This record gives sequence, C-alpha cells and structure tokens, in this order.
Amino acid sequence: MKDLTPDRSSLEPIEIASRDEIENLQRERMAWSLQHAYDKVPHYKKAFDAAGVHPGDFKQLSDLAKFPFTVKQDLRDNYPFGMFAVPEKEVARVHASSGTTGKPTVVGYTQADVDLWAHVVARSIRASGGKPGDKVHVAYGYGLFTGGLGAHYGAEKLGCTVIPVSGGMTERQVTLLQDFRPEIIMVTPSYALNLLDAFRDAGVDPRDTNLDVGIFGAEPWTPAMRSEIEDAFDMHAVDIYGLSEIIGPGVANECVESKDGLHIWEDFFYPEVINPETGEVLPDGEKGELVFTSLTKQACPIIRYRTRDLTRLLPGTARSMRRMEKVTGRSDDMIILRGVNVFPTQIEEQVLKVPGLAPHYQLQLDRDGRMDTLTVRVESLPGTESERDTAARQLSEHIKDVVGVSSTVEVGATGSVARSQGKAVRVVDNRPKD
Ligand code: DLL
Repeated sequence: MKDLTPDRSSLEPIEIASRDEIENLQRERMAWSLQHAYDKVPHYKKAFDAAGVHPGDFKQLSDLAKFPFTVKQDLRDNYPFGMFAVPEKEVARVHASSGTTGKPTVVGYTQADVDLWAHVVARSIRASGGKPGDKVHVAYGYGLFTGGLGAHYGAEKLGCTVIPVSGGMTERQVTLLQDFRPEIIMVTPSYALNLLDAFRDAGVDPRDTNLDVGIFGAEPWTPAMRSEIEDAFDMHAVDIYGLSEIIGPGVANECVESKDGLHIWEDFFYPEVINPETGEVLPDGEKGELVFTSLTKQACPIIRYRTRDLTRLLPGTARSMRRMEKVTGRSDDMIILRGVNVFPTQIEEQVLKVPGLAPHYQLQLDRDGRMDTLTVRVESLPGTESERDTAARQLSEHIKDVVGVSSTVEVGATGSVARSQGKAVRVVDNRPKD
C-alpha cells in the first residue's frame, strides 16, 4: 500500500491548532448556535423554556450539559419542515433518512450549509489520503440518503474528478473501476464486499485496480473487516462517520497515517458522550452514547442530538481534534439474546476468523417456545464446500466462547446471504413483538 500521508502544509490551520484555540472557537460558535435555535425554532424555545435554561446561560462549554437533548422523535414530531430555522425559500436542499418505521426524518440545508458539508467531506477525503486531481468513484447511493451527494460535493470541493456511480449495477462498477482507474472509492463496507465478489466472478484481480484508498462508512465495520478489504484490494481502508441529522457523512474521519479512530471535525460539530440511562455527561475515555451539537449550521441547527451510537472520546493524535473510537454498534442494533447483549459486529469478528468463510453474514432471531434462538447465516468461499461442516462447527464454538451465546450456523453457497446495495441488513428479527 502506498504512503498517503498528506503534506502538513495542505492541512487547514485549525486541524492542527492548539486545544485553546479550538475551544475558544467552539465556545463562540456554540453561543451563536444555541441562540439561533432558540430564536428560530419553536421546538427549541419550548424545550429550553421547559428545562428552565436560556441561551444566555451558556458561558463555557461545560454549560451545554444544562440544555435539553434532542431525539429522533423530535424530528418526527416536527415532520416535515418544523425544525427548520430559516424560511423554506432559503433552503437549498433537503435530505431524509429512510427509517424503517413511520415517517422519514427530514433535514434541510441552506447554501452555506451545503458549502460547510462539502468542506468537511473534502477535509475527510484529504485525511484519508486523497488529493486534488484524484479520481473518486462514488458508490454510495444518490438521493435522499446523504451518502452519495455528500461524497460528491466533498470530492469536487477538494478538486477531485468525481465518478458519480451510486449503488447498484455491480458488474458494471467493476468495468468502470478497471477502465476509469480511480484512486479512491467511497462506498459502504458491505457493498465493497459485493464488488469484491463481482471482481472474482469476472476473473479480475482486485489488486490490479488503481485504487489507493477506500473511504467506508454509513454502517459499523470491524478492524478484521478492514484487514480483509485492505488485503483483497491492496489499498488503505479508512472509516468515515456521519448522520443526516448532523449533516451527513463527514462529521468525523480517520487519518490514513494513523488509523486509530476518527477525528471529529470539532470546529463544526461539538461531541459529548453520555451515560444512555442517566443522560449524565461522561469524561473523555469512557464509553457511552455519542451526542452532537452543530456549531454553525443555519437551516437545521441541532442541539445535543442523541445519536444512539456507542463510542468514547479520545485525545487527538494526527490532528488536534478529538477522536471517537470506531463505532461498533448502535444501542438500537443490540440484540438481547437470553440475557446476553450481542452486537452484530461481535459476530462479524468471529466470522472473519474462520478459514473458508466469506465475509458476508446475516443474523436471524426466532422464538422457539419461550426460548430465543440465533441462526448465523454465512457463506463458504468457493472451493471450500467440502469443509462447510467444520467451518460451521468452528464458528459456532467461537461465538459461544467469545460472545457467550449458543447459535446455529448455516454455511451456504456463494450468494446465499442477502446482499445490500447500501447499508447491509445484519439482523432479521422474527421474534413476536411482546
Ligand atoms: O449513514 C451518513 C453517511 C453516509 C456516513 C456515508 C458515512 C458514509 P444516516 O443514514 O443518517 O447517515 O445514518 C447514520 O449510520 O448514526 C450510525 O449508526 C451509522 N454510521 C454512519 N457512519 C458509520 C460508521 C449516514 N463509520 C447512522 N461506523 C449513524 C459505524 C456508522 N456506523
């Protein structure tokens, strides 16, 4: 793999500024954002008043803890445009997250917000080792989902050549990757694995592409998956994080030279980690639920938004801005199986340890009488069909030993596990809702 460490002179001064400088900027911007939300969004006025706080009470960053949280339901209750802080005519773009139930959550951007978003994605691509002139194959979905357009505008802003492929037409993506020779691919990690299969089906060695780096996000993926993808493509694999309520992709990104967690672009998004049960703010280093406050967003200021993502905050390394540990799961994704808490990523780690298994997997939960059962569906790699029983036994043992739950492992043929075009569906829960 190439050394892609960006030249220090290409970084923005704030990325390597002192903590004092960063915190002063945050304080100034936070005061504006709280006031803006209070003045322009009835929901925030009501919520702040009910909590007995006023934007004027904010003097230092720790005062943020006095302000109420915002949750996804608040956005749903104000569907579609009730959280907007500017007149509809000033909204240049809307996006929405699909949500599995009910109405989507809608977010709006002024032109300045679109520019800010492009700025943080450009910064993220540079942190990933990208530079002006690189070609970027964008295979995140275009549309209401923020992945495609977020990556697109960021790549353009950095001065890259954008190849706006979106998701789907997997075989054709292989042809384009070979013919256009992009240096960078931006895609969900699960879809990258589909592309990998398509390369193999086409008899093309993925190591022969021109790819130097893949920028993967929108869903959890493990360090074991990183190694798998890096080896298969002979490229760096770095993590990009974000969510539509905060802006989209580009809230935080790993640096290619360190790959030690994701630097949060703290000059625009202020992070906190809280105890999800009590709401108490936890010190850096302790694991809990990630909460974000936007510092400069105009159309949809967001105050103390509970992401449901579990992680912890760590000091800066390659940049001065704090890092968040790789997100291993959302509190909503946690499966409680016979009293044991299980995240799909814990199963992913075990799947990747068993020789002969492909990295695709899906978990199925059923109820047998009063007992919940877990079936892990995986695939054998081509040519290892005769070893399926051994692989199934090994995986089931690893899951029992390391994760602590009993499971039935079904090893099928290539293609037997449902493939995604974007975010993978890792869990199919057939248990009756009670
Ligand atoms: O997934 C934005 C995005 C697009 C991020 C492309 C990165 C790349 P939403 O659809 O609103 O936005 O989903 C946000 O996805 O709360 C996390 O649970 C999860 N997620 C996003 N990035 C990561 C990541 C986009 N790098 C939700 N690791 C978030 C783990 C991630 N989970």
